[in-house]
Amino acid sequence: MNKVGVVGCGLMGAGIAEVCARAERDVIVVETSDAGVAAGTKRLRTSLDRAAARGKIASADAVFARIAVTSDLDALHDRDLVVEAIVESETEKVDLFQRLDAIVTSPDAILASNTSSIPIMKLGVATGRPENVLGIHFFNPVPVLSLVELVPSLLTAKETTERAREFVEKGLSKTAIDCQDRAGFVVNALLIPFVLSAIRMLESGFATAEDIDRGLVLGAAHPQGPLALADLIGLDTTQAIAGSLYEEFKEPLYASPPLLGRMVDAGLLGRKSGRGFFTYE
Ligand code: NAI
Repeated sequence: MNKVGVVGCGLMGAGIAEVCARAERDVIVVETSDAGVAAGTKRLRTSLDRAAARGKIASADAVFARIAVTSDLDALHDRDLVVEAIVESETEKVDLFQRLDAIVTSPDAILASNTSSIPIMKLGVATGRPENVLGIHFFNPVPVLSLVELVPSLLTAKETTERAREFVEKGLSKTAIDCQDRAGFVVNALLIPFVLSAIRMLESGFATAEDIDRGLVLGAAHPQGPLALADLIGLDTTQAIAGSLYEEFKEPLYASPPLLGRMVDAGLLGRKSGRGFFTYE
């Protein structure tokens, strides 16, 4: 799979495009508007320059040259693999998969989603080729974290999962784990209730944000605390994942605390907006 398409050039889409280009793939990334293209291009360039400065890649220019960012979804017609990384909204993703099904011409092409919690089956049946649709779920920051969850739906062909595994492991040098098509897969099903508990703890005035995070970093050897992690994921994305988990399991531990909703309404989305539970430059 040499020709890769990525839809969405936000936090995750840019990272996925970067790792594919670093693995010598020809990458086209699609955003919704000219402003999205400009922001996505800047995000890619900044990350590649940082990787070059740290000696992770020989040349940012060489990798950047393998990536085209556009607002034209039709540009994905000749791709072998398309990874969708747009907002965590079922209606938007279903609509996109319908459009991708009409655009991507190769019958062998894999249409993948980076969704954290939306059923892969819903995306598969939005296309006429559910056997070629699966979840390829990367972790943030994509260039740094090596895990990928592979999520076939009930209708995904075994061969599709194996081709995706080969791409992820041999092509991108990442490690794949297999998950069932259930909201949250393995990692988020465990991680999101933990993050939500930390938000509830803050909300109830039990401890400060600093102390909650310090507690988990120094007391449980976590690399960062749960509130800093929520800021990294994005509070809107955290809320959306919690919503899908709650919708699927109806368990109170997945219910989004009111504070999270208020912060999202206020535009305090975490790192990407400069302020969440903590403040960023
Ligand atoms: P984000 O909000 O940073 O980026 C989403 C991007 O998609 C935006 O730039 C937006 O302009 C673009 N977009 C929206 N609709 C589009 C469309 N129809 N066509 C093209 N571009 C479109 O969100 P983020 O964090 O990158 O999340 C993307 C997906 O990755 C979500 O499904 C999320 O659940 C998943 N994910 C997020 C992780 C995280 O830590 N943030 C980790 C793993 C998966």
